[in-house]
Amino acid sequence: MKQFLTIAMPKGRIFEEAVELLRKAGLQLPPEFDDSRKLILEVQDENLRFILAKPMDVATYVEQGVADIGIAGKDVMMEEERDVYELLDLRISKCYLAVAGLPQTKMSDVAPKVASKYPNVASSYFREQGEQVEIIKLNGSIELAPMIGLAERIVDIVSTGQTLRENGLVEYAKIAEVTSRLIANPVSYQVKEERITEIVDRLAEVISVME
Ligand code: PRP
Repeated sequence: MKQFLTIAMPKGRIFEEAVELLRKAGLQLPPEFDDSRKLILEVQDENLRFILAKPMDVATYVEQGVADIGIAGKDVMMEEERDVYELLDLRISKCYLAVAGLPQTKMSDVAPKVASKYPNVASSYFREQGEQVEIIKLNGSIELAPMIGLAERIVDIVSTGQTLRENGLVEYAKIAEVTSRLIANPVSYQVKEERITEIVDRLAEVISVME
């Protein structure tokens, strides 16, 4: 009998790509995975349980040990330092973190405001640049901030660039490339090493022929 394993999956735009990758790696997935709104799904024959979490929360479930492994964006891992192992770069959901704003605008000399869903990433980036900024934390639609005068710059994810373009914003700097990662709870990794390593190996094989 295989060891029981719980996998935290990110809901939303990463989900489909992540499911496709797991499927290619030969994991048996719940039949209702694609169109269910259930938050916990099981494949009993395989002793597998999936929990569907907000992408920002996946690492929390894994760190707390209620999920053994999970799929989390590098952006989230950069924002919140978590006590988890990063096992594999899954090379899906490619995008990057960037600084953007209205075109041809300089940042004010005194306390320019920067809006972001990633306050820690944003503040360490500007600190490294030697610029003092005030960070305003938002939870989404970050591009609104410069358009409506809430902030001079934003730090956000750029994927296709469509949101920036359609809202008349430009990119000022690239901060970091982002892809999804397979993460593990350190204790689970020790206790369930065989099962986790098998999944890592299968995924690594799929990834190696992906590009
Ligand atoms: C993300 C990100 C940008 C957009 C970038 O937002 O925050 O707004 O996607 O994608 P693009 O370059 O392909 O346009 P998301 O749609 O996840 O929603 P949010 O605004 O609620 O964060």
